[in-house]
Amino acid sequence: MSSDNIDRIRLCSDVPEHVAIIMDGNGRWAGERGLPRHLGHREGMNAVRESVEGAIAAGVQILTLFAFSTENWNRPPQEVSALMQLLQHYARREGEELRKRGVEVHVLGELDRVDSATRRAIETITDSTRGGITLRLNLMISYGGREELVRAARILSERVRAGELDPDEINEDELQKTLFTRDVREPDLLIRTSGEFRISNFMLWQLAYTELHITRVLWPDFGREDFFEAILEYQNRDRRFGSVRSQ
Ligand code: IPE
Ligand code: IPE
Ligand code: MG
Repeated sequence: MSSDNIDRIRLCSDVPEHVAIIMDGNGRWAGERGLPRHLGHREGMNAVRESVEGAIAAGVQILTLFAFSTENWNRPPQEVSALMQLLQHYARREGEELRKRGVEVHVLGELDRVDSATRRAIETITDSTRGGITLRLNLMISYGGREELVRAARILSERVRAGELDPDEINEDELQKTLFTRDVREPDLLIRTSGEFRISNFMLWQLAYTELHITRVLWPDFGREDFFEAILEYQNRDRRFGSVRSQ
């Protein structure tokens, strides 16, 4: 399953270790075909598979997918329910294949708001894939960047109140340890599909120095070649982190 792009990616040592994706455009994909929105979400599952395969082929170690945001709870109940059912379906159908491929699944977000059937499906897929070492797949569900930072403030305040932490000891490292992503490095590359130039409350802390790649492709049409193109573009970027380029 080789392509020219994968050879070019491998020629460069700088493969992004962590790629995050805002999977957007399912509704528009369905609308363009006169179909109901939920069929766009269902079609989006192919793009999830393509991205996982693309990440493995390229040697990416962490893939983080924004699947459902805090604000998405405000969508019509039928759409929320269709998305939760799709998640259950994914967990049931793909768990075994992901395990075989060495993918370890983590689900991050405010899961208290998620219904019990979906929570059980999440537990099943995380349990059955535990220990996979090829790729870590983070599914961000009921996740919002602001909510995550408010939660961080609460966790740190509680530690101060319990006498475990002095306010002077609060620094970037301490805050980072309270985030859902505490045990993974920040994304090197963020891909957003469907041509929207915004981050929609995704990983506000973690994206501080992430390279952004925005493609007009709608999520259900996103394939591994689109994933490889994003990586190739990333490999031509000059990441300076606020400093100057070494001569
Ligand atoms: C992304 O597609 C899926 C989720 C946000 C859950 P959308 O449903 O946002 O599709 P558009 O943006 O309306 O086309
Ligand atoms: C962002 O997409 C959330 C996810 C991809 C899960 P949205 O479609 O919800 O974002 P907006 O409304 O275009 O900003
Ligand atoms: Mg959208």
